[in-house]
Amino acid sequence: MSIPDFYAVFGQPIHHSKSPQIHQLFAQNTQQIMEYQAQEVGADIFAKSVVDFFEKGGKGLNCTLPLKELAFKFASNLSPRAQCAKAVNTLILQKNGQILGDNTDGYGLVTDLLKNHGIALKHKRILILGAGGASRGIIHPIMQQIPEKVVIANRTIEKAIALALEFKKLGTIEGCGFDDLKGQSFDLILNATSASLSGKLPPLPNNIIAEKGCCYDLSYGSEPTIFVRWGLEQNAHKSLDGLGMLVEQAAEAFYLWRGVRPNTQSIIALLKQKYP
Ligand code: ATR
Repeated sequence: MSIPDFYAVFGQPIHHSKSPQIHQLFAQNTQQIMEYQAQEVGADIFAKSVVDFFEKGGKGLNCTLPLKELAFKFASNLSPRAQCAKAVNTLILQKNGQILGDNTDGYGLVTDLLKNHGIALKHKRILILGAGGASRGIIHPIMQQIPEKVVIANRTIEKAIALALEFKKLGTIEGCGFDDLKGQSFDLILNATSASLSGKLPPLPNNIIAEKGCCYDLSYGSEPTIFVRWGLEQNAHKSLDGLGMLVEQAAEAFYLWRGVRPNTQSIIALLKQKYP
């Protein structure tokens, strides 16, 4: 019997990761024979662990916090979307033995919004909260949807302004602080800060969500995040967490590795039941 191709996710902490369950479900869904494990890997041992993994025959890796920038530096080749994000969440062993770095996070977000939730981005006013790595990874695919404008608001204003400047050639985009949001309204508010993880909410003014406007937290948890709850209190049309994004970014990585696309909607539904 042949040995199954093997894949893994590296990160620290990693025990909470849903990726092994997700890829197992993808493999069942598409009749692929493969294994996928989560491995606790810190920044200090990242490069050695990646080399070991591929030397032992590993076919592909996901990298999560705090390793995405290191994976970007490690990859011998980079996809255009990884170059824009300056971060890599998927490493792929190429036929020539080199390692390609890609970033499927933004694709995952946009696919979840458009396909799973029917939330269009074209001609919409979009607010992104946060100016760190998570924000950087989603801006290019959002701009590709031709929104009316994108505003990046951040606690450290200079970071928001600098990030907006980087993407200026793609459309109307500006950076500001949270105080500057007063009096504005948005069709979609994306929380890309790490505040949810510590149960904190960015300081947002009331009445900032337009009629039929939606909220989306890139984080997810077993309970609705504080930002998702805020959206519901503010009467958002929909207030969603990032489970769908997680599954869609994983599906894109799976496609890059295996060349087949799993049925994501059934797997998202299953995950909501099985691992609520
Ligand atoms: P990631 O890679 O997850 O984006 P990061 O690069 O450390 O992580 O960025 C975290 C983001 O969350 C930053 O935009 C940060 O704001 P600052 O740039 O001002 O540090 C934001 N953030 C973290 N905690 C926050 C809080 N309690 N309120 C508002 N913003 C917060």
